Amino acid sequence: MNIILIGLQWGDEGKGKIIDFLSKDMDYIVRYQGGNNAGHTVVIKDKMYIFHLIPSGVLYKNKTCVIGNGVVVDPQALIEEIKTLEKQKVYIGNNLKISSLAHVIFPYHKILDKLRESKRTFKIGTTGRGIGPCYVDKFSRCGIRIKDLLCPENLKEKLKDNLSEKNDVFKKAFGHPGFKFEELYKEYLAYGNMLKKYITNTSILFAKALKAKDSILFEGAQGTFLDIDFGTYPFVTSSNSFSGGACTGAGFAPVYIDKVIGVVKAYTTRVGEGPFPTELDEKLMGCVREWGKEYGATTGRPRRCGWFDAVMVRFAVLLNGAKEMAVMKLDVLDNLETIKVCTAYKYKNKLFKEYPQEIGSLDKVKPIYKDFPGWRTSTRGAREFKDLPKQAKNYLKAIEDLSCSKIKMISVGSSREETILKY
Ligand code: IMP
Repeated sequence: MNIILIGLQWGDEGKGKIIDFLSKDMDYIVRYQGGNNAGHTVVIKDKMYIFHLIPSGVLYKNKTCVIGNGVVVDPQALIEEIKTLEKQKVYIGNNLKISSLAHVIFPYHKILDKLRESKRTFKIGTTGRGIGPCYVDKFSRCGIRIKDLLCPENLKEKLKDNLSEKNDVFKKAFGHPGFKFEELYKEYLAYGNMLKKYITNTSILFAKALKAKDSILFEGAQGTFLDIDFGTYPFVTSSNSFSGGACTGAGFAPVYIDKVIGVVKAYTTRVGEGPFPTELDEKLMGCVREWGKEYGATTGRPRRCGWFDAVMVRFAVLLNGAKEMAVMKLDVLDNLETIKVCTAYKYKNKLFKEYPQEIGSLDKVKPIYKDFPGWRTSTRGAREFKDLPKQAKNYLKAIEDLSCSKIKMISVGSSREETILKY
């Protein structure tokens, strides 16, 4: 089976845990978009592992983890991540492959990300990791790729070209002194040397995997509504984080994809700026944030929290082809007396049951809610669907019906064991 796992909200749905859960039955685990703006957390027996670029599949022996061509790689961050994981006794060697075609993030991308953000009237809330500017260079056809780090002549030529243009822009537009060629050139050649053993033609790798009937898991980073095309633009990331991105970002033909699994939280969160129709009031948001430990794995920023938005998830299910869903963090709702689900939006006296892509801005819509009684008891000990309280089962059934996708997994805690399979 070749599976794409995708977030159906604004990222941070808890994909890390499901990826870890599914990885044991997969041969390859592949990242295909984004960069170290992502953060996946996996908890195993009180030990916490945080991943930004490396697929969490490295926690299993005999799995091949791939960073695909569609990922933008900050080599410094990647090397740090490798070192941190090695300190935690995770083996990283020939189980990690990096596409030679992936684009490289340079310091000028990171600084530009922050400078641009500081000048914007409407802030995006970027993680400042240089993701957007690196993708801009890729599509402007001046980007530097992983394979260039292995070829001193290529790197020299491309870096010189880039710096002559960028230093000009930095000085004129931002009063920034710019970057010295020699320093960057040496630093990045050294990164190339350190990463050399992982760099390969990943398309050949996948061709071999297909021939051997190996199974591949494509792990989406961010979420559907952060997608550059389908998300809440401009408050989005700079890649295609919906399921379609897996084909271009890994170099994998759509005909070989067997299934798309969507991941949702039992409520909604978002980091950074942008519209959020079901956002909670301050007081309740504070409680949910504490119960759900809703702080970004990458930046530590507090996440905004809201009710489950079935209008958005229904659209995400359709867009991604996610016929199956995993519902995460159900236990975070354990203390609530009443739980709301947004079933439609009202905008200018018109009712929208379908996601209204055509209207000006999502921040003007009024959510229409349906109330559900809470269960007010802990669900953390539940290991089978039948162990859940009646009200929790009803809530899940409503989410399932409103989202038009089958719930196959429910998570009631952060560790591997706190997972319910519903087949
Ligand atoms: P950027 O991709 O770092 O430029 O960030 C653009 C927007 O996407 C910001 O609102 C970020 O907070 C958000 N974002 C980027 N990566 C993630 C993620 O992995 N989880 C949740 N939000 C993210």
